[in-house]
Amino acid sequence: MQHFISVDQLKPKEIYGIIETAEQFRHKNLKLNDQLFAANLFFESSTRTKMSFVVAQRKLGFEVLDFHKASSSTNKGETLYDTAKTFEAIGANLLVVRHQDDDWFKALMDHISIPMINGGAGKVEHPTQCMLDMLTIYQEYGTLKDLNIAIVGDIKHSRVARSNVNALKKMGANVYLCAAPGFEDMTIQAPYITIDKAVKICDVIMLLRIQHERHEAQLETTENYLYNYGLTKEREKRMKKDAIILHPAPINRDVEIDTDLVECERSRIFKQMNNGVYVRMAIMTELLQEWGIINENSIEKHKNVITYQRTKSV
Ligand code: NCD
Repeated sequence: MQHFISVDQLKPKEIYGIIETAEQFRHKNLKLNDQLFAANLFFESSTRTKMSFVVAQRKLGFEVLDFHKASSSTNKGETLYDTAKTFEAIGANLLVVRHQDDDWFKALMDHISIPMINGGAGKVEHPTQCMLDMLTIYQEYGTLKDLNIAIVGDIKHSRVARSNVNALKKMGANVYLCAAPGFEDMTIQAPYITIDKAVKICDVIMLLRIQHERHEAQLETTENYLYNYGLTKEREKRMKKDAIILHPAPINRDVEIDTDLVECERSRIFKQMNNGVYVRMAIMTELLQEWGIINENSIEKHKNVITYQRTKSV
């Protein structure tokens, strides 16, 4: 893995390897001995992704360099490329980038000589969200294979949908899409079904926010959106016995999901956020090892830690 831009880069075995390493990080407090700097260059708003990267970095012992778009030289016209090169020059060892351009990474990939992680690219990719979603599903079912998974909502404008469809299909899941008219995207290769069919057959219902900020035209989302296309309390009752509810958040309560379901027994929404910390620790450690920035001796082993098993690439 040179930079972590898309889950498409990973083979199923590597995906399971990251899931396994994330679980190790949850149970064992492993820190890096070396002084390492991480910078999170978020050019779009973020609460969960940015803050869980910060927590993951601090747990690993990174010094986290503060970057805020609003007070940075971005306001003086500096490009993403020059911003990234600046952080590389001043000694950052790892960059996390979130940017509104679908392909922001293309201009940077061959010119930045420290590992970069995609924290969200326009409408197309959100690989660390996808990894934490897969970890959350795996914790329930012990596999991703043959599960029926519905991704429900504003498919057209969602990078979470795109990352997840490809990755979950690769892992052997049966992926379905549900969308209101105008929210479909026929370039994504998965069958559309109704939300009523989805609750009947699916093991996982993954809801998405309506991404108003990405709509070219103001698509009308009427008061009936929840009733027609969302997860109501009545539909939740018709879900399969052990089926779970996911949502990358932020949540629009009472739009895509009834507010009473956000913390219901089936909901794993806050679990997903918790998993995000450990998955991000696993991805960062994996990259740093592949780049030769750390080796296994750099991992400070705490009490009760048996060994740190690096996930081998296949
Ligand atoms: C998502 C994002 O920003 O792509 N949120 C997240 O990272 N947890 C989804 C969204 O904004 O709706």
